[in-house]
Amino acid sequence: MRKTILTTNIPEAARRLLDGEVIGMPTETVYGLAGIINSDTAISNIFKVKGRPADNPLIVHIAGLSQLDDVAAEVPELARQLSRAFWPGPLTMLLKKRSTVPDVVTAGLETVAVRMPAHPAALALLSIVGEPVAAPSANPFGAISPSEAAHVLKYFDGKIPLILDGGPSIVGIESTIVGFEGTDVVVYRHGSITAGQIMAVTGATFIDRHSGAAKVAPGMYPRHYAPATPLVFSNDLQKLAEQHKGKKIGVLYYGEFFINNAVTISCSLSPSADMDEVAANLYGTLHRLDGLGLDLIIVQEFPAEGVGAALNDKLKRASWQL
Ligand code: TXA
Ligand code: MG
Repeated sequence: MRKTILTTNIPEAARRLLDGEVIGMPTETVYGLAGIINSDTAISNIFKVKGRPADNPLIVHIAGLSQLDDVAAEVPELARQLSRAFWPGPLTMLLKKRSTVPDVVTAGLETVAVRMPAHPAALALLSIVGEPVAAPSANPFGAISPSEAAHVLKYFDGKIPLILDGGPSIVGIESTIVGFEGTDVVVYRHGSITAGQIMAVTGATFIDRHSGAAKVAPGMYPRHYAPATPLVFSNDLQKLAEQHKGKKIGVLYYGEFFINNAVTISCSLSPSADMDEVAANLYGTLHRLDGLGLDLIIVQEFPAEGVGAALNDKLKRASWQL
């Protein structure tokens, strides 16, 4: 394939999608590897380019609520409530699918994952295209997700024709994924929209299946989000830095300033220990450190509630047992 074009030209990106091509698409969470759901070629190329197993379904992105009924056969009142509260935004809902949604998109499941992204370029692109667009995170299967167009280029240069550059993703971690069982909301993947926020809007009982059965949602694979450099996760950075003295060490921390002479580079993810800021900076910082030829990356464990819990889960899946 020819060189990959990095562009801000939304109509050109829309044209490529309508031609059945797979492109890089910005969203507020992470960049996606996008293709229209009605093109078999586009969908099979998404799986091929990403190296993703065919039994792992894709999220369908829509531009407006009118498109929700095009893909979902049933939309429970709870889902309507959540869509009013959080869309456009980093919330994905699992809903009974319409038969018009190709089985390859949902990996044969009866449900379709749907979200309306809160990124102006993504919304403009989706409106011009006028049909639903499937997009997994734009990283090879198992690798760190991309929060900038440059990350997508690094992964897929020459493998996709175009990346729409929408700047750095401001949320920075993947969407929260929820499903519905009667009057309960079930969380399959934690993200920046927290259980507390969802309960406040719906008053629903909340079931956490995130760390339950494998492979219901992608983030649930035990190893995921991983840099090439060994990564460990700790609540005692000083102790770990001392233990690995002599190695080239990078440290990712938040809050109080961290300094240790054994460490080659340390990066603050948020001086004020704000977990939303940490989320926005996490993948970009990991990509940067992963390019430095370090022996080890040590990441400070996050507080165990809210967005911190989502971050802990991701980093645990990225970490190595030394
Ligand atoms: O923030 C996000 O959600 C990003 C941006 C690009 O929208 N997308 C993303 O897609 O993270 P992906 O494919 O990396 O992770 C979504 C996961 C899939 O791997 C899949 O396992 C799960 O959502 N999923 C999709 N459809 C599903 C379904 N019908 N039932 C259960 N899980 C589903
Ligand atoms: Mg992913």
